[in-house]
Amino acid sequence: MKINALICGDSLQVMKTLPDKSVDLIFADPPYFMQLHKELVRPDATAVVAVTDEWDKFPDLKTYDAFTQKWLAEAFRVLKDTGSLWVIGTYHNIFRVGYHLQNAGFWILNDIMWRKTNPMPNFKGTRFTNAHETLIWATKEPRTKYTFNYESMKAFNEDLQMRSDWLIPVCHGPERIKNQTGKSLHSTQKPEELLYRIILACSKPGDIVLDPFVGSGTTAAVAKKLGRKYIGIDKDPTYIQYAEKRLSTIKYVNPELQIPLTKELPPKILFGDLVASGVLKAGTTLYDPTHKTKATIYSDGSLKIGALRGSIHQMAAKIKRGPTCNGWTFWQFKQGNDFFPIDILRKTSKISSIKQQKKG
Ligand SMILES: C[S@@+](CC[C@H](N)C(=O)[O-])C[C@H]1O[C@@H](n2cnc3c(N)ncnc32)[C@H](O)[C@@H]1O
Repeated sequence: MKINALICGDSLQVMKTLPDKSVDLIFADPPYFMQLHKELVRPDATAVVAVTDEWDKFPDLKTYDAFTQKWLAEAFRVLKDTGSLWVIGTYHNIFRVGYHLQNAGFWILNDIMWRKTNPMPNFKGTRFTNAHETLIWATKEPRTKYTFNYESMKAFNEDLQMRSDWLIPVCHGPERIKNQTGKSLHSTQKPEELLYRIILACSKPGDIVLDPFVGSGTTAAVAKKLGRKYIGIDKDPTYIQYAEKRLSTIKYVNPELQIPLTKELPPKILFGDLVASGVLKAGTTLYDPTHKTKATIYSDGSLKIGALRGSIHQMAAKIKRGPTCNGWTFWQFKQGNDFFPIDILRKTSKISSIKQQKKG
């Protein structure tokens, strides 16, 4: 299988040459079958750049459905069990694609609404402005272990859980690739920002990203930028030629900078382990955050305050007069004149490193 390659050909045939379960992420932006019959014109009589390309034409819905079923079946076959599929479409095709996608065995995780900040107006004033496209995110099975870099996406979104509505401008300005006559090369070139989120969320550095309808090469370009491998297919040799040129200007960013953010879970250490190993000896005094309440550690890892005795969590909850309290972050020990939360001992003490080693 050729990796980091753009292949010119019919996807239905080219995908057949890829081995089973060989790619980690598929992004597909298939023909929409827009069925535009007349040329669209603005009020000033200038023509609107619409999707009237030959590649978007099918004799009828039945043929479009058969085409959709075929590429989805191949997508299912070549996708790894841990991989996921993203498909983008408009109201013209996305409902049909969604139907066939479920029939092919895919399990839908989310649909994302890409809301365009700068959509094309409805010039005739006969409908609402069509200001969004829909993306479907799906896995091969309901309970499969797929990649979702949740923490990275939250950091991307400034500590807010990322939602399913994304506000992104349509591809414009210098990002829009022009042909030799200075016109837009591709009528549906997707913004890199859109692919950036998808690839960042659903793949790891080094993963293989497949786009069976790569057009101007957006998916491959972003995959390369993010240190992922890519396979792009398109039947139009001109698109492939421009996409190759686009890719040749892109350099990998330092692979270290691509590592997804993950939540650092505290090492699994029991408070009793700290007492048993002598890190905190029985008889040591612990202090609440105000340092007014003192508790004595017993050999079994319990704490005693006056007549009350219980675990670090129970005693912390009692002092806080709440139903629960995390004793690890509540209780502090004294060293010299300074106080430190006992939580740091799980991360720094010798037993924590021994436990971490055992885990590895
Ligand atoms: C909606 S466009 C994709 C645009 C692309 N996402 C981009 O950012 O440039 C669909 C593409 O699919 C290609 N295409 C249509 N039918 C195909 C087929 N059977 N095999 C391979 N490519 C095909 C078209 O040439 C077109 O470039």
